[in-house]
Amino acid sequence: MAILEVNGLKKKFDDDEILKGISFSMEKGQTLSILGSSGSGKTTLLRCLNFLEVPDDGTISVNEDLLFFADNAKLTDVQIRKNRHHFGMVFQQFNLFPQYTALENVILAPKLEAKSKEEVNEIIERGKELLTKMGLSEKMDNYPHQLSGGQQQRVAIARALALSPDILCFDEPTSALDPELTGEVLKVIKELASQHTTMIIVTHEIGFAREVSDEIIFMDGGVIAEQGTPEQVIDNPSNERTKQFLANYLK
Ligand SMILES: Nc1ncnc2c1ncn2[C@@H]1O[C@H](COP(=O)(O)OP(=O)(O)OP(=O)(O)O)[C@@H](O)[C@H]1O
Ligand SMILES: [Mg+2]
Repeated sequence: MAILEVNGLKKKFDDDEILKGISFSMEKGQTLSILGSSGSGKTTLLRCLNFLEVPDDGTISVNEDLLFFADNAKLTDVQIRKNRHHFGMVFQQFNLFPQYTALENVILAPKLEAKSKEEVNEIIERGKELLTKMGLSEKMDNYPHQLSGGQQQRVAIARALALSPDILCFDEPTSALDPELTGEVLKVIKELASQHTTMIIVTHEIGFAREVSDEIIFMDGGVIAEQGTPEQVIDNPSNERTKQFLANYLK
């Protein structure tokens, strides 16, 4: 059974059709990477999945639960919040709350839903576990400005995981980092992949995508130009645009 199924997803900004009918599905435990040149619609697709943008047409289902279809485009705030629960989001700019410590950043959202003191304690314990898993056991009480970019990004990953999303989405998680810090973030994402965390990763790190992904989507001009295993899409692309894109990157 597919954990995520997207069908015919379309999104316009003004008269500009940015997503022109995107369809794909993924299985639980898979890592799917999305490649594509600047402006091809990768971020817009992730934002639609997370209901940060409302699509114009198409459907989004998680675990066969239809979250979005064109006729329910006017979702209520409550529905949107509920839908968002299925997805965790890690952005290029880590977007941590500067006034809160690493641990507070991680537990803030889950704590809002806690119904008892015991639940709050469990959330704090889980937050500490997640930060430890991210290699940040010594940094839990540090504020974002006291952390490196790579450490901040790992806090952001722990924060997304704290809400136990069905699918964890990354939008170029390392493009704001220098190469040394990039490595430490890619390492934790690789570890999550080996533990079969379901992930969608928009990235320009082609070598990383090849190594970590079960499936690759190459987007071009708002459509999926090519989709397949890393061997198919990266090593033996059949689409001319994919070939051109990869040639530019490998230059
Ligand atoms: N809120 C918006 N209003 C108007 N146009 C938008 C909006 N968001 C995105 N666009 C346009 O949609 C197109 C696709 O943008 P998107 O950010 O999805 O591309 P991308 O593939 O993520 O690119 P990059 O690799 O540079 O991040 C661009 O032409 C962009 O200008
Ligand atoms: Mg983008």
